[in-house]
Amino acid sequence: MNEKFARLRRLRQSEGMRALVAETAVRTDKLIYPIFVRYGENVKEEIESMPGVYRYSVDRLGEIADEVLAAGIGGVLLFGIPEHKDACGSGAWDEDGVVPRAVRFLKEYCAKRGKNLLIIADICLCEYTSHGHCGMLEGGGVDNDKSLPLHAKAALAAAKAGADIVAPSSMMDGVVAAIRAALDGAGYANTPILGYSAKFASAFYGPFRDAADSAPQSGDRKGYQMDFRNGREALRELAADEAEGADMLMVKPGLAYLDVLSEARKNTLLPLAVYNVSGEYSMVKAAAAAGMLDERKIVTEILTAFFRAGADIVITYHALDFAQWSRGE
Ligand code: PBG
Repeated sequence: MNEKFARLRRLRQSEGMRALVAETAVRTDKLIYPIFVRYGENVKEEIESMPGVYRYSVDRLGEIADEVLAAGIGGVLLFGIPEHKDACGSGAWDEDGVVPRAVRFLKEYCAKRGKNLLIIADICLCEYTSHGHCGMLEGGGVDNDKSLPLHAKAALAAAKAGADIVAPSSMMDGVVAAIRAALDGAGYANTPILGYSAKFASAFYGPFRDAADSAPQSGDRKGYQMDFRNGREALRELAADEAEGADMLMVKPGLAYLDVLSEARKNTLLPLAVYNVSGEYSMVKAAAAAGMLDERKIVTEILTAFFRAGADIVITYHALDFAQWSRGE
C-alpha cells in the first residue's frame, strides 16, 4: 500500500512500545508535599475542605515525616498557623514561632533515624496578620516596602532553624532581593530562594485559606497577586525574581496556568516549580468521592501534564497518594 499519511499509531501498539516512547514520567522525588503546622499539642485534625490533608501540632509531625520519608517524596513545604495574630504578623519571624519550631523538630526527628528531610519554608505574613493580608497595611493597601524587612526577618528565622530552602509567597516587589541580602548578611549565603514568582490571584486557593485560616478580613489580594488575564506579565515577574537572585522559580496555580508554565520553561534556565494548589486538589477529591472520576488515573494525568509542560518540581497535596500508587499499593 502506498501510504499517504503518517502511521503514528505504530508506536502505540502495546504497553511496552508506549512505555519505550513515553516522553515524560512522574518521579516521586520531584514532588513536594505541603504540611500545615499549628500551635497546640497533640493535634492531628483533618481539614474539612481538603479530605486526607491534616493540620499537625509540632509534637506530632513525626507521623507525617515518617510517611513522607517512606514514600520517597522530594521534600515538604511548611505553612504555620500561629495561636495569636497581630497587625504586622510578628508570628512569622518569631524564632520560636510555629515554623522554626517545626523545622527544628523535623530535622532532629529525621536525624535520629539517620534520614534527612528536605524542608522548604513558605515565607509570608498572611497566616500571621490579624487582617489576613500578606504584608503591612497602610493607607488602605499593603505597603510593599514596609513589608519587605518583615519578610526578610521571617526568612532568616526559618533559615536559622535549619530550613533548606525559603519560599516567599506574598508577591511583594523586591522580596527576593530583600531576603537574599538578609540571608547573605547573616551567614546564610547557601540557603536557596524559591520565588513564588508568577502567583495569580486565584479562587483555587479557597480551601487553603480555610486550612491556614488566612483569608483576608477585607478586600482581596488583587493588589499584589497577578491578574489571571495576563500571561506576558507573568514572564516579567519570573524575570524579576531571577534578576533579584532567586535560585528557583514557580508558577501558581497549575492546572489553569499550563500555558504560563510552558512559556516560563522557554524563558528561564532555572529550576521551575509549579504549585498544584488546594482547590485543584479538592476538586479531584470531591469528584472522586462522588464516583464521578477515577482518582488515581486523574491524578496521574494531572501530575504528568505539569512535567510535560516544563515543571522540574511539582508541589502537590496528592504526593503521598501518588507515591503509594507507584509502589503498587
Ligand atoms: C500564602 C499562600 C497561599 C497559598 C500558598 N501560600 C494562599 C494565598 O495566597 O491566598 C495557596 C496554596 C494553596 O491553595 O494550596 N500567601
